[in-house]
Amino acid sequence: MGVSEPNAGSGDRPGPRHVAIIMDGNGRWAQARGRPRLFGHHAGAKRVREIVECCPDLGVKYLTIFAFSTENWKRTQVEVAGLMSLFRRYISKEMNALAAQNVRVRFIGDRVRLDAKLIDLMDKLECNTAGNDGTHLTIALNYGGRDEVARATKRLAQDVAAGKLDPEKVDEETLPRYLDTHVLPDPDLVVRTSGEARISNFLLWQSAYAEYEFIDTLWPDFSKEELGRLCTNYGKRDRRFGAVKT
Ligand code: IPE
Ligand code: IPE
Ligand code: MG
Repeated sequence: MGVSEPNAGSGDRPGPRHVAIIMDGNGRWAQARGRPRLFGHHAGAKRVREIVECCPDLGVKYLTIFAFSTENWKRTQVEVAGLMSLFRRYISKEMNALAAQNVRVRFIGDRVRLDAKLIDLMDKLECNTAGNDGTHLTIALNYGGRDEVARATKRLAQDVAAGKLDPEKVDEETLPRYLDTHVLPDPDLVVRTSGEARISNFLLWQSAYAEYEFIDTLWPDFSKEELGRLCTNYGKRDRRFGAVKT
């Protein structure tokens, strides 16, 4: 996809066009206040609005956020059920605001384990914002990078078996067309909050050449000012993509 437009990440060159965020640290934020983990998840969900709203000012056209991983089912039934209920509430509550703010929402991840009511709301939000051309917000829900590549490979293999795809022609451009993110550019900047320096199965294929920022802030404390600072840092980085600067 195209080159980034000049923007507020005005260091030496434009800031990131696509920012992906691993929103981590809700549980620790709540624990530090002597509150249950779900209290942290609610505070975390509230942060999302401010971050989505500041994207146009920062020149961030695509924002992708990690809301629930394929591994998060390992948590207690209470936490998983609380998160699913929060997702339903969040979508219902934010539906009109997102549509009015010209945000286009998409979901990535496998829907099979999600309940019918949640899937219905996800479809509605995607449908109600499908005509918008402002910020592209992608929410990763029951998403795992390995799971996504496995599902993509399955569909690719089905196309080969059906004679629709010549295996000799499979190359680096082929697989991404089968990924959940097929309409999105690769992320330029991946941010993880909460001090953990790992990517926990997020956008494995797509982040091959992304710049990373691992910051100590817990997600419920993350702010638009901090995102602005990260965008400025990004503008100062030298992205070589394997080449030598001439
Ligand atoms: C991130 O916060 C939100 C989800 C994974 C759903 P955590 O719940 O992982 O918070 P910590 O890492 O335990 O503090
Ligand atoms: C990654 O955070 C997933 C999300 C932010 C949704 P986790 O808290 O689940 O990751 P680990 O367990 O620290 O790797
Ligand atoms: Mg965590």
